[in-house]
Amino acid sequence: MNLHVRPPLSDEWPICRMLLPETFAEASQREYLLCLRDESPRIVGAASFRRGADAVTHLRVHVVSSFRRRRIGSQIVAYIARSGVRALGGNCETVSEPAAAPFCERNRFQRADALTTVEGEIAGMREYMCHLRTRVPGGFEACTVPLSAVPVEQVAQLHSQYVAHQSELNPWRGLLADAPGMNHSPVVLVGGRVVGILLWELQGGTAVVRSRVAVPGPHGKWVNVILLAAGLDGAWAQGARRVRFSYTDTNRDTRKLALRFKAEVASVLVEYRREIAG
Ligand SMILES: CC(C)(COP(=O)(O)OP(=O)(O)OC[C@H]1O[C@@H](n2cnc3c(N)ncnc32)[C@H](O)[C@@H]1OP(=O)(O)O)[C@@H](O)C(=O)NCCC(=O)NCCS
Repeated sequence: MNLHVRPPLSDEWPICRMLLPETFAEASQREYLLCLRDESPRIVGAASFRRGADAVTHLRVHVVSSFRRRRIGSQIVAYIARSGVRALGGNCETVSEPAAAPFCERNRFQRADALTTVEGEIAGMREYMCHLRTRVPGGFEACTVPLSAVPVEQVAQLHSQYVAHQSELNPWRGLLADAPGMNHSPVVLVGGRVVGILLWELQGGTAVVRSRVAVPGPHGKWVNVILLAAGLDGAWAQGARRVRFSYTDTNRDTRKLALRFKAEVASVLVEYRREIAG
């Protein structure tokens, strides 16, 4: 099959949009390519990405389903890799797009990080965290208050220090202001200083955790226990029976919690990177 990769012509944008709808909210920051055969149907694939000084990021590739497993996706990636950049990168949601992980791995991308989102029953987790809370050392004087009772700057500062710099996997990284649905979220204070936040909101019968931060240090573990116990209690009191939360590959404690309570994986957003040898 003879393939040709090039930017879309003016009358080809509608099909490009159909193939890569998720990229069009930020189309002005992206470049687009189509992959064409020399016979009908001509358009068999598309790609979109952002081009930085020496790297392609936010890469998305889509091959028309009846043409998959014919190395079209790989040829599109190879074309972009030859465009003079030193690295390629992008995110794939590997639960809803099961071909993405094997495709990226076969094309020499490596998993840089991932954000796994899970959902599970609150009851067992709550019981477990309440039990752990009884083991918080006596000399550790912390108090828990709702988010609405804390000056927003203090919480925002913690959020920006520990969450906002996280990778683009976390859609909440830049966001905190004006979150009335989260006013009940627990905040832990020690000596009047904010040392932990667990921001969550109710969606139907599910408590959705947006961000959790416990300032690292000798008491970080207990701050986490207090936050989780308070958050799960609060969610239960508001009628939530399920909880949804996310963790990155490095966040082993949260992953362990998810495994212990057999939380179901709802999505895994994987960040892939490939260095191009010079
Ligand atoms: C992922 C996608 C782009 C792959 O395109 P493609 O043209 O079918 O991929 P290729 O034929 O180049 O596949 C190359 C290799 O990747 C792996 N691979 C691709 N699709 C796979 C699948 N569904 N299951 C397992 N392995 C797969 C295989 O190793 C394959 O080689 P093989 O066919 O010799 O075994 C295509 O399935 C697609 O458009 N999916 C929907 C969008 C998407 O998931 N995009 C993710 C990337 S951003």
